[in-house]
Formats: sequence, structure tokens, C-alpha cells
Amino acid sequence: MGSKRSEMILVVDDELGIRQSFNMILKDDYKIILASTGNEALELFKANPVDIVLLDILLPDMGGLELLEKFKETDPTVEVIMVTAVKEVAIAVKAIKSGAYEYIMKPFTIDDILSVIQRALEKRSLIKEVAYLRNELEVRRPFEMMVGEDPKMREIFDYITIIAQSSGTVLIQGESGTGKELVARAIHNRSPRKSEPFIVMNCAAIPITLMESEIFGYNKGAFTGAFSTRIGKLEMANKGTVFLDDVDSMDVKMQGKLLRIIQDKEFERLGSSKVLKADVRFIAASNKDLKTLIEQSEFREDLFYRLNVFPIKVPPLRERKKDVPLLLEHFTALYAKQTGKEKKQFSEDAVRMLTVEYEWPGNVRELQNLVERLITITKDPVIRSKDLPSVGPRKAEIRDMTLKEAVNTFERQYIADVLETVGGNKSKAAEKLGIHRNTLLSKTNEPDSNS
Ligand SMILES: Nc1ncnc2c1ncn2[C@@H]1O[C@H](COP(=O)(O)OP(=O)(O)OP(=O)(O)O)[C@@H](O)[C@H]1O
Ligand SMILES: [Mg+2]
Repeated sequence: MGSKRSEMILVVDDELGIRQSFNMILKDDYKIILASTGNEALELFKANPVDIVLLDILLPDMGGLELLEKFKETDPTVEVIMVTAVKEVAIAVKAIKSGAYEYIMKPFTIDDILSVIQRALEKRSLIKEVAYLRNELEVRRPFEMMVGEDPKMREIFDYITIIAQSSGTVLIQGESGTGKELVARAIHNRSPRKSEPFIVMNCAAIPITLMESEIFGYNKGAFTGAFSTRIGKLEMANKGTVFLDDVDSMDVKMQGKLLRIIQDKEFERLGSSKVLKADVRFIAASNKDLKTLIEQSEFREDLFYRLNVFPIKVPPLRERKKDVPLLLEHFTALYAKQTGKEKKQFSEDAVRMLTVEYEWPGNVRELQNLVERLITITKDPVIRSKDLPSVGPRKAEIRDMTLKEAVNTFERQYIADVLETVGGNKSKAAEKLGIHRNTLLSKTNEPDSNS
């Protein structure tokens, strides 16, 4: 045992002499497995956690390039070193283009071999380390990124800590901008899966055919345009978490497929019959009322219950207004840090207005954007109530309007305001508005004729 490392190297060569000499050189430092044919190599590769493959370009039963492709298909992170004679160098160069790490030419020295293996292993561990560090950064600020003192938020933080230990599905519901994605990341970052990937699937943005290939991946030739094998998000997320954002927008057919994966924990790449294991935790989010969508047959009830094992409702900001001053402080500090400029402050009056008089239909995201805008445009280090945009309470009402309704509402209000400034003189108002008097008359009569 002693200094023996845990990395595993697969040596594939049809010449016994070559296999033996690799084994001699490497066996003290690494775990070695040997194969003399392509098919044997593939079987061993699938059965063992191989880090590096030393691959002879010419094998009796299979071309080295073909084999390289199969290895990469099974595990895209494996590093393959081609072993070649001088006359096959052209093929070796092609292999590098198809993803081989390096080639070494026969005859080679022991140092050649050891150093190329060393470098390939370093590359592998660097890639893993970067992923790990990236995650560490997230983990170190468990809830620091999520501000909240309101009891409703405290309750959610406690709940996150508890359910992070499980692998059960989570359904996060809440209005847009309330922090659903932050909640999902916090669960992942506190879970035993934290050093594995957190993969976001945005269900709203993707049509079903694309979605299938994104989730499941595909084998070369699975459909027109599938020029190479690609792993899907389920495979990328292996041992980690998949975040299904805007799950309500998912096509109903796709919902059925998702349900099956959650139940069976198995799936196949498109164009492949090989069954793959899905060791992932699903966290879904929606800003729509899923119960209503179920009644309208737009969301599968069985999927809802599968997802809703651990339900989380993130309250809108207007229901936790105590957090507004805290969030204002949080984002001013954050922007000061990001820009390297002096931290600005909100006057007491401004804080009061933003807390008491405004309903925040866009929730935390709206508050964050407002802070960024105010910090940028306000010259004074103190942001006062006069600097705030007019935040009428009307904003709370228009949340549920379509764009057309909203435009009409604005138009009616604006016409009324202009009419007021010109003392109700319709000709003058029409001139100011840049429209014909008849148009104005028809617009102002509209509500009348309806009533
Ligand atoms: N409690 C919080 N503390 C600090 N920042 C927050 C908090 N909640 C939300 N944010 C910030 O507000 C923004 C919106 O949050 P997030 O993207 O998680 O919202 P969402 O609920 O997923 O919205 P949508 O439904 O529109 O996707 C993000 O920049 C996030 O960092
Ligand atoms: Mg979101």
C-alpha cells in the first residue's frame, strides 16, 4: 500500500510485451488493469472507475479512434493517451482533435510515460478542484446571501437546513423575484450533494424537442443534426441537484417523462437503449398557482404530488415588509463592494417610504434593481425620498393585468391628467397629446359607452 495512489489506469494493447512493460513501469504507483482487445477494454472500462487510458491506436478488433469515442461517450471526463508508432502519427493527431489528451510514440522512455500520465492526472484533478472550490465559495455563505429577519423567512431558513439532509423532491412556490432560486441553491449548498453539480433547467425557455435532448442527452445520429454524442443535464447533474425552474411551463407530455424519471430514477439518452441511473435530487420552482393549472389540465396532478414532497412557499415582499430596510442595506453594501465605491445610504424618510408606502410587485428583484439604479444616478451619498421614483400605491393593483389592460389603464389615466391640466378643454388636450380631437373624444367616450 504505502505511497500507492488511488488512480486507475487502463492499458489497452494487443502486444503482450507492451502490456507487460506498462504494467512494470506503473504498477507501483497506480492501479493497473490490462486489456488486449477493444471489446475487452470497453467491458473493463464500464466496470471500473478508470482515470486514464493508455490506448494503442491499432487493435485487432476495433480502431483506436472508434474506441476513444466510446470511452468518451461513457465518461467524458476520462483522459485518453494514444500510443502510436511513427507511421500512425496522422491518426494520433486526429485522435487529439477528437478529445484524446496526448499521444506518445513508440519507442518511448519510462520518463516519457510517467510525465504524460502525471500531467493528465493533474488536469483531471484541477478540473475537479475548480468545481469543488466554486462550490466551497457558495457553501461558506450559507444564508449570508439570503437576508431576512421576518419570522416567515426564519422559518424557511430552518426548514431548508432540515430538508437539505434528504433527497426528496422540493417544490418552491412564490411570486416572481421572491428568491426561489436562492432557496434552491441554499438547499443544495447545505446538502450532502454540495460538492456535486447544481444544474438549472429553465423549463419556460425551451420547446419540448429541445428539452428532451437537453435533459436526456443524445447519441450520435439519434436525429438529424446529432453529429456527436452529448450528455444531457441529468447526466451532468449526476449525484447533484437538478433545479427545474418555471416547472409550470413544462409541456404536459414532458411532464409525464419527468414523472417517470422521478419514480424510476432511470433514463436513456435519445437514440440509445442503454438504461442510465439518475442519482439526482429534483428541486422545482413555479410562480404560478399549480392547483389552478391542475384544474385547467395544464399540469399533471400526479407530478404535482411527486414534486410536492417538501413544499416551500416564499412569501411576497409586501407580506414581510420588515425585511425591506434590511434588504436596502444589504444591496447598498453589495453594490459598494462590487463597484469599489463609497457605500451610499438611504435617508430615514426614504426607507420609510419604500417600506410603508410601496407594495413591491416585483419583490426582492425589483428592490435590488431599484437600489442599483438609485446608487448609479444619485450624486449625493445620501439617497432621499425626493430621489425616489413616484411609487404610487396603484402599482399594487396592476399586477394581474395583461399588457393591453395595463396600457389602456395608463392611457386613460394620462388623458385624464392632461385634460385636468388644460381645464377640461378637449381641443387643447388633443393638441398636447398629439392626436386628433375625434380620437380623443372616442377614447374618452369609451368607458362611458360601456357603462
Ligand atoms: N432574501 C434575499 N436576500 C438577498 N437577496 C435576495 C433575497 N431574495 C431574493 N434575492 C435576490 O433577488 C433576485 C431575485 O431572486 P431569485 O432569482 O431567486 O427569484 P425567483 O423567485 O427565482 O424569481 P423568478 O420567479 O422571476 O425566477 C436575485 O438577484 C436574488 O439574489
Ligand atoms: Mg427564478
